[in-house]
Formats: sequence, structure tokens, C-alpha cells
Amino acid sequence: MLNFKEELRKKTEETNRIISGFLPEETGFPESLIRAMNYSMLAGGKRIRPILLMESNRLFGGCLEKAAPFMAAIEMIHTHSLIHDDLPAIDNDEYRRGKKTTHALFGEALGVLSGDALLNYAYETVLRAVTDWDQETALRGMKALQILAHKTGVQGMLGGQSVDVLNEKNQGKALTEKELDYIYLNKTSALLEAPLMVGALLAGAEEEEIRMLEQVGRLTGLAFQIQDDILDRTSTTEELGKPVHSDEKNQKVTYVTLRGIDGAAAQVQQHTERAVEILDSLMERREKEREGTASSGEFLRELLLYMALRRK
Ligand code: IPE
Ligand code: IPE
Ligand code: MG
Ligand code: MG
Ligand code: MG
Repeated sequence: MLNFKEELRKKTEETNRIISGFLPEETGFPESLIRAMNYSMLAGGKRIRPILLMESNRLFGGCLEKAAPFMAAIEMIHTHSLIHDDLPAIDNDEYRRGKKTTHALFGEALGVLSGDALLNYAYETVLRAVTDWDQETALRGMKALQILAHKTGVQGMLGGQSVDVLNEKNQGKALTEKELDYIYLNKTSALLEAPLMVGALLAGAEEEEIRMLEQVGRLTGLAFQIQDDILDRTSTTEELGKPVHSDEKNQKVTYVTLRGIDGAAAQVQQHTERAVEILDSLMERREKEREGTASSGEFLRELLLYMALRRK
């Protein structure tokens, strides 16, 4: 039987080791900038995105060494999104991952610049690795990079963040569920779809399988963000490591404001069940077609459930 908590602890440790190996050295004239980058990277996040990448890669028999630079890159991109999300111009929050936010500690200028620098360093990290690979693997690497860039950018996370923050400042304007879905699917789902797809693609999964994982990420992202909104109302700053009531402070419309805590919790459950169903049918398909070349998706399955029921 899978001891999920223990496995998650081991995988988080392994992911931390991998990420640390790709961080820049704190020397030279931009030392303060690099210290700000490393501060936020090492502040202790859950590492869910790189773990999703590692697990979807493992599911299709991939090679961890090839997945590793992408694992570091997705966490750098995620951390860039958090540093900027916390800036005074966006959510204006002072705590993140149980510590002062980057701008609160290093000043707003280094908050902006360290977020930029991490986004850029993510691509630099991947390109440095991929250009050393043989042609066929490098081509896969470039396709993976395309997914990463697309899901992170204007048609993904940044697009979602822009609509989110503009509505936040538009205090009181009624948001439709369609607009809210656009925000959640982009600001949050896109950064969960990317690692699932990239991990599978690098391991040589088929197009259809990658599309199924995109759906898993999409639904998991909705559940994850709705749970985040619930915790913003019901948790404590100590447990969460970031300020509670941030959404209320910014007069933000969320599924909790539209449906109440219980209604939102029912949605988390519904989206998660659907995500797990798609993962299960992917595993079944894989077993039928490839007769046992894929490893068990049991951990990934438990991880999706953990993400929905998380308390931090
Ligand atoms: C926070 O993501 C941003 C959301 C999409 C809600 P996480 O909850 O994964 O944050 P860390 O990486 O563990 O700090
Ligand atoms: C932010 O959503 C998602 C991204 C940073 C892309 P939130 O603003 O709800 O995230 P938290 O609560 O600050 O982590
Ligand atoms: Mg925000
Ligand atoms: Mg925020
Ligand atoms: Mg939040």
C-alpha cells in the first residue's frame, strides 16, 4: 500500500534538491538581485508543479535527468507569478510561504526585477539543457518549451492574472461565471496543465494522452483555486503561510462569494472527481496499449486528492 504522506515528503525533498542545483550563484554586481531570486525560490513552497511534472514523466517511463531542468523552470515561473502577485500594484500582500514577501523584504524594485529575472532564468535553464541533447530529444524539448511558454503567457497565466486584477480594481462589478472561469482556468489551471503535459511529452507520450493530461490539469486547477479561495476565508495566516482575507481586502469576486463556502466546496469535489476519472481512464488506456510499460499512477491520483483537500 502506498504511504502517500511519506512518498510526498521524499518527492518534495528530491524536488528541492533538483531545484537548488539550478539556482544562480550569489556573486558579482547583481548579487542583491540574485539573493532576492533565491530567497523566494527557497522560501519553502509545496513544489506541487515540479512534482506533477516528475510524476507525469515517470508515468510514461521518462528520464528524470531530462525532466529536471523543466522541473526547476516551472517552479521559477510559478515563483515569478507569486512575487508579482504579491506586489502593491496587484494583491499587495506581505507574507508568502510563512515569510515576508520578496518586495516587503527587498523593496518594490527588486520585487519587480527578481520576478522578471526568474521568468527569464526559467527559459535560460531549459535552453541550456536542451541544446546539449541529441536531435530527436531536443526536438521534444523544444515542443515542451513551447507548451511552457504558451501556458505561462498572455494566453495562459498572465492573461488570467490581468483579468483577475482589473476586476479586482473594478470594485463591485458583477462578474459572470464565464468570466470567473476564464480567470481560474488561466491564472491557475494553465500552470498545472503545463507540468503534466511537459512531463508526459518529454517521456514520449502520445498526443491524445497529453490532451487527457491537459484536462486533468484544467480540472485540478479549478479545484485548486477554489480551495485556495475557501482557505482565504476559513484558514489562519499561521497555517496558510500567507495572509487570510486577502480576497476580501481586494474586494475580489470568487466562487466563494458566488456560491458560499459549501457550494464552493462541492465544486472542488466535483472537479477533483472528474480529474481523477480522466487520470484513471488514461491509466487504463495505457495498460491496454502498452502492456505494463507505464508505472502506476497511484501517487499522482493521491496527489490530486491531496491538492483538493489541502489545508495550506
Ligand atoms: C499559490 O500556489 C497560488 C495559487 C494558484 C493559489 P501554491 O499553493 O502552490 O503555492 P506554494 O508554491 O505552495 O507556495
Ligand atoms: C494567484 O491567485 C495565482 C497566481 C499567482 C498566478 P491568488 O492571488 O489567489 O494566489 P494567492 O492566494 O496570493 O497565493
Ligand atoms: Mg492574485
Ligand atoms: Mg494573491
Ligand atoms: Mg488566494
